[in-house]
Amino acid sequence: MKTKKIAIVSDIHANIYALNIFLKYLKNNFQVSDILNLGDFLQLGPHPKEVTEIILKDKRFINILGNNEISLLKRNPSAFPEDEYAHQDWTIEQLGPEIVSKLGQLSKSNILTINKKKIYMIHSRPYSTTAMPLLYGGKSLNDFIKDYDGIAVDYILFGHTHVQALIRYRGNKTFINPGSLGCSKESTVSFCLAEIDSETINFTFKKIRYDNSKLKDDFIKLGVPAAERILKVFYEIEM
Ligand SMILES: [Fe+2]
Repeated sequence: MKTKKIAIVSDIHANIYALNIFLKYLKNNFQVSDILNLGDFLQLGPHPKEVTEIILKDKRFINILGNNEISLLKRNPSAFPEDEYAHQDWTIEQLGPEIVSKLGQLSKSNILTINKKKIYMIHSRPYSTTAMPLLYGGKSLNDFIKDYDGIAVDYILFGHTHVQALIRYRGNKTFINPGSLGCSKESTVSFCLAEIDSETINFTFKKIRYDNSKLKDDFIKLGVPAAERILKVFYEIEM
């Protein structure tokens, strides 16, 4: 069986600079057949339209929704602070109705079989799209694993925490979090690469440092609502 190369990404968060760095890395170093995108590709960033056009057009991408896309599809003003809701309005306006309706066709999870390996794609938890995975909520590894019980797969790919992780559990399930591609306090682009054959999957985590000053400039230039708070909280950049 031929070895298959794939990439795993999550939490692109409307950052076109980070997405382009990742795509260039693949072109030059690791040519993949599939890019598994675990959601939250929108919000907290200034380039929602550019990012969505790429992930919908580039046929290597297999996309699922994260909580940030779901909040755009199912509006709920009482669930968000005013500036966050305004940021959602701005993102929807940038995307336009055609792209928003395409987002509505994506699912919240996906199971793939690649070279006889069963792979589950989920943004966070199987029964909640918004809550943090239990491990990151301070629960034990056992509680964390139990949360994904009943899903008969070999590998569970999740995002949402923005923290890279590989957790092997008693040889029967492996959990992978590729980290956040576009939203980081260290000005890095994080993702995971995998080589799959009939016996094993080899995972390699990547973190590429880049200059995010253009990202900050775009937040200001484009008048992104809640820019000051987002830059401070999610990128540790003071305006
Ligand atoms: Fe998320």
